[in-house]
Amino acid sequence: MRSHLLNDTTAEQYRSSVTEGIERVAAKIAATERPFTGVTVDALAPTIDAIDLDKPLLDTAAALDELEDVYLRDAIYFHHPRYLAHLNCPVVIPAVLGEAILSAVNSSLDTWDQSAGGTLIERKLIDWTTARIGLGPAADGVFTSGGTQSNFQALLLAREEAKTDSFTKLRIFASEVSHFSVKKSAKLLGLSADSVVSIPVDHDKRMQAVALAHELERCKKDGLVPMAVVATAGTTDFGSIDPLPEIAELCEQFGTWMHVDAAYGCGLLASVRYRGRIDGIERADSVTVDYHKSFFQPVSSSAVLVRDAATLRHATYHAEYLNPRRMVQERIPNQVDKSLQTTRRFDALKLWMTLRVMGADGIGQLFDEVVDLAAEGWRLLAADPRFDVVVEPSLSTLVFRYIPAAVTDPAEIDRANLYARKALFASGDAVVAGTKVGGRHYLKFTLLNPETTTADIAAVLDLIASHAEKYLGESLDRAS
Ligand SMILES: Cc1ncc(COP(=O)(O)O)c(C=O)c1O
Repeated sequence: MRSHLLNDTTAEQYRSSVTEGIERVAAKIAATERPFTGVTVDALAPTIDAIDLDKPLLDTAAALDELEDVYLRDAIYFHHPRYLAHLNCPVVIPAVLGEAILSAVNSSLDTWDQSAGGTLIERKLIDWTTARIGLGPAADGVFTSGGTQSNFQALLLAREEAKTDSFTKLRIFASEVSHFSVKKSAKLLGLSADSVVSIPVDHDKRMQAVALAHELERCKKDGLVPMAVVATAGTTDFGSIDPLPEIAELCEQFGTWMHVDAAYGCGLLASVRYRGRIDGIERADSVTVDYHKSFFQPVSSSAVLVRDAATLRHATYHAEYLNPRRMVQERIPNQVDKSLQTTRRFDALKLWMTLRVMGADGIGQLFDEVVDLAAEGWRLLAADPRFDVVVEPSLSTLVFRYIPAAVTDPAEIDRANLYARKALFASGDAVVAGTKVGGRHYLKFTLLNPETTTADIAAVLDLIASHAEKYLGESLDRAS
């Protein structure tokens, strides 16, 4: 069994084994005709259930053959131009290379003595990101597992910085279309059930600053404490960007922590043409960025950034066996002092390789392309009488619904759209997402693949329309 340990004696086996795996994935990716095979849970589960994990195959090629059946054949492939569903981007090759390196070397970023250069690389990327945001000279941050964790950590810091004798008095303000991790964080942070105040959005799905001002006033009047405002720079459904400068003004006026959830919109930090859309982000106290959404990085790769490095002390604990307090005086950089995690992947390496090979402009150009594609898609949808499209995109999502001329019952239209999404998924021809707007079912394209064309968008819209029409035709038959 020792031959499986990666060390000086097994370097050749490592090379051949990993190459074999890479060959299979490369062949798969090259030959993928559809984003999904349409396999059902009932069809796939027995194959996986039948595998006895206590009976190993003892052979890499055999394990890879088996993997073809249980995973590779039916995986959802985000690199395919007709994968249009969630916030999953195709990944850039330099980042995949970084991923291969980081798992083989297996540094853990909690302490200097488990990572050395890895720690400095992560720190440099944090500084690079805070400079792109414009957070100022005292800024800092740390890589996290994703936007949910970044939002949670930011709100933990905000809670600790809030002046109150009781958590029950704390209030967080976020738009009605903010990410659900805000509410989840409030619960984990021990805040009261009504601690998250939902602020209405305008026609473009941006937080209404006037409504925010009103709620902040009310909070103060009621003797409560406005702990944080979460502005979203790129909402999950609409890609809408809250009015950051106005929100920053209000946060200053009310002495409230401003957190910007730029999990999705952070791609604009590298944008060559659209950076101005997130102006005002530089006034935040904390920012969430998900490189794994809009920097074309593999999952996971995220960071939480703060204006004032000192606030990260709220996540600091010392252990004699790991990061004793004296190491701070010795200026030994231990990232665990800033992180909610202890053992932590060197995800930063993927972004490092990306910036060193492609440069920030390279990433920004790719992101700009999907922003342009969404604008084109919106024009297509707005001109197509078969569809109702909700909002002109600021980033790269399109929310729309099939509206047949002959059907007026909104519930029947809901069912037709739900059916179309399911039927499309089952066919594997394309994968699209769904959401609700004003209580009604809509469909969603999240466009993060520069390889997707307007022709793809038009073709998928035709597929949706034909599935929905089929449903409505059958529904008429059922009624008659
Ligand atoms: C605006 C926003 N914030 C936070 C998150 C959570 O990010 P993650 O899935 O990386 O935890 C998402 C995920 O879609 C998001 O869209």
